[in-house]
Parts: sequence; C-alpha cells; structure tokens
Amino acid sequence: MTNSATLHLPGQEPLEIPIIRGSENERALDISLLRAKSGYITLDPGFVNTGACSSSITYLDGEKGILRYRGYPIEELAQKSTFVEVAYLLIHGNLPDQYQLTEFSKKLSNHSMIHEDMKHFYDGFSSTAHPMVSLSTMVASLSAYYSEATGRASVKDLHINSARIMAKVRTIAAFSYKKSIGQPFVYPLDSLPYCANFLNMMFSVPAQPYEIDEDHVKAMDLLLILHADHEQNCSTSTVRVVGSSQANVYASVASGILALWGPLHGGANQQVLDMLLQIYENGGDVDGFVMRAKNPNDSFRLMGFGHRVYKNYDPRAKIIKEHCDRILSKLGVQDPLLEIAKKLEERALLDSYFVERNLYPNIDFYSGIIYRAIGLPSNMFTVMFALGRIPGWIAQWKEMHEDSQTRIARPRQIYIGENARTYIPINQR
Ligand code: CMC
Repeated sequence: MTNSATLHLPGQEPLEIPIIRGSENERALDISLLRAKSGYITLDPGFVNTGACSSSITYLDGEKGILRYRGYPIEELAQKSTFVEVAYLLIHGNLPDQYQLTEFSKKLSNHSMIHEDMKHFYDGFSSTAHPMVSLSTMVASLSAYYSEATGRASVKDLHINSARIMAKVRTIAAFSYKKSIGQPFVYPLDSLPYCANFLNMMFSVPAQPYEIDEDHVKAMDLLLILHADHEQNCSTSTVRVVGSSQANVYASVASGILALWGPLHGGANQQVLDMLLQIYENGGDVDGFVMRAKNPNDSFRLMGFGHRVYKNYDPRAKIIKEHCDRILSKLGVQDPLLEIAKKLEERALLDSYFVERNLYPNIDFYSGIIYRAIGLPSNMFTVMFALGRIPGWIAQWKEMHEDSQTRIARPRQIYIGENARTYIPINQR
C-alpha cells in the first residue's frame, strides 16, 4: 500500500505528502508540514475536503448512508438502547455495565437543579425571545457557578461537569419554555428518568395532576439517540474550535448551541415545520414549493433536504420516517403535515433537480412532526436537537483535549485586499 503522495510545486523539489488511513480505510493527505516545507497553504471554503482531527467517536459514510457511534450502527442503538446509555457510550467509549449505568443515571439526577439565582436570569429575556437565546446564555452562565470550570479547560473535571451540563441543560430548556408561556417553573424530580423528568418539567402545572405518557417518553428518547453525535458538523467543530483555546466546557458547549441554531444546521427542524404549515395553508400545493426550491433566482430551499455529507438517504431520517406513522397512531394523532411531508418527499425524489444533486431528506425533515405530536411548539425543536447533541459535544471536547496533536484552531487565509498604502490625513482625502 502506498504511504505517501508526491506533490510537484513550480520551482521546488518534489514533496512527499504522507497518506493517513482510518480504521474504515478513509484516506487523507497529511499536509501538516506543507507550509513549513513549501510556503504554500491549502484553500478549502466550507472545509469540504478538510479533516481537522482524527476521531474514534462517530463513523459515517455519506455515500452508503452509514452512521455508527463508537462502532455500533445507529439502527441498532435506536432499537435497543436508551439516550442515557448512548450518552455514556459516546463520552466513555464503551457501553456501560449495569453498575456504571446506574451511577451515571444517578449523577444526572443529582445535578439536575440550577442555582436559584439563575432563575432570575430569565426575567432579563423578553417573553418573545427564542428559547435558543436563553439556552445558550444559561449554559455559558453555568461556568460562573462552578469554580473548577472557570479557569483553563480541564478534562480531569469533565466527569462532573459533563453530568452537570447534561442534567442542567434539560432543566434550563424546560424553564425557557415555561418562561415563554408564562407558567411557573417546575423543578426536576430525582425519581424520574431522563426524558420523563424533562417532559414533567415541560408539561406539568401546579394546579393539575400530570401523568407522563410512556409513548411520549419513548418517542423523545429515540429522537435524542438519533441526534446524539454526528462527527465534525458545524456546531461540533465550533465546540472543538472554541475548546482549543482552552475555554471551559460550558463556554465551548454554549458556542456549539449558537452554531446549531442556524437554519442551515439544527435550526432547520423549526423551518421544516414552518414550511409544511405554509404548504398546508396554501391548500397543499407541494409542486409550487418544489418549483421554488429549484429556481436559481429564488433563495428558498426545501428545508430538511440535502446534506453536506450524505449523498444518500440520511439513515437517521429513515428511522424517524419509519417511526412517524407508528408513533402518531399510538398517540392518536392525525397530522395533515405528515401527509404533506410524505408527498413533498415523493415529488422531490422523482425530480431530476434533486436526483442529480443527491438531495434526500435529512434528520430534520420528519423529526418536527413527532415533536409536534408530543406537544412541543416549533420554537423548541432546535432546543431538543441541542439536548440530544450535548453528549456528542462533550465527547468531542474530551477527545480533543486528550489528543496530543491538538493545537489552538487557527486557519490561514489568502489575503486579497489592498497592498500597502500611505495614510492620508482626513482633510486631504
Ligand atoms: N433545496 C434546494 N436545493 C438545494 C438544497 C435544498 N434543500 N440543498 C442543496 N441544494 C442545491 C444547492 O442549491 C446546490 O445547487 P447548485 O449545484 O445548482 O448550486 C447543490 O444543491 C449543492 O448544495 P450546497 O449548498 O452546495 O451544499 P452544501 O453541502 O454546502 O449544503 C446544506 C448542505 C444542508 C446546508 C443544504 O443542503 C441546505 O441548505 N439544506 C436545507 C437546510 C437543511 O435542511 N439543513 C439541515 C442539515 S441536516 C441537520 C444538521 O446536521 O444540521
């Protein structure tokens, strides 16, 4: 097997570039010494061809539609595991035994409260503020309460801080929702498992008894598993970039939350539902929206379609679609938006524009329909994505700090501005 490639640059001796192979035979050219040896850098807007790290957390093959966490196929985890177990797997590298799982779950229960003072922060947000604003702000603010996290990033303290983040983000997210609808905050209950605890904080009120629906719990658990990690996407790369400056884990995760909010990333799930509603209100005119998405003079895109890496059906979307009918009928929900989504997918997948560009539904296409069926408003969808992605961000942050090759992230550029010029005093311009 050849272990290097030869680069011929004008006026220079041939340069040997090492070839790196991953455990699934992915190949990379190691250009870490390129500039030092040749004076050249590489230019790759959007990092389409650029690997920033080696990782043993998540493997995905976008051409074949494969996704695995720590080697386990997503289909198997979705069927057999729980979100808490998957979180442990991502952060610690292996599935837990019963003792480890119990201890991990206990930690998530024990750290679920937020400092009482933090409740007052919500008063500073207008009731119309998007919950992603309060989520990111509150997560960044956690570093104010845990002194060991305020200094340099520390993997040693990550054990405790990762439990804190996972447990508290759930409380913060539910409080954000309660604030937005003017209801009193409901405190976490240590006796409840992860998802049931969240749903209780979201939907119970002091005036009435609230019964947690096991089907809601299962649906939420499934969605969180599917969102738990996705290798070097925009928000995860942000967590790594921010963490590489040795910012603490709360600051790094808060940055990831903000990166996730964008409509091309996690914010797409809310946009999908808005789009489906718009189609519904327009009498179900699916074709008109497909036409608009194809029009190069229209900035509209089919939200929940297309992916940088998947050039095949997103395996997560496949699982969600398979569960959609079952979950909705189990919950006794008949949602016309599901029929519209299916029709839209069918039309798009037959259209040469989408076929030629390998545009398939992604994870955000059907997830909102399930969230809606369990009673979540669309502005909470991206918050749910963040809740699911927390273990992935923590695992990636930890791996980065344990990797001896990690250096502060600092891309180069090709400068295309003015050449040196002389300052002219304002009265002479
Ligand atoms: N609707 C219509 N056309 C599209 C779409 C779409 N959803 N997505 C891509 N295209 C077209 C795009 O216009 C371009 O066409 P052309 O070659 O004629 O210029 C071609 O397909 C390639 O698109 P791109 O923008 O160069 O691809 P990208 O890899 O830079 O962007 C993407 C990936 C996900 C941002 C993009 O597909 C998109 O905007 N999708 C809609 C938003 C969305 O659903 N985002 C969620 C992504 S999955 C969850 C997550 O991990 O965040």
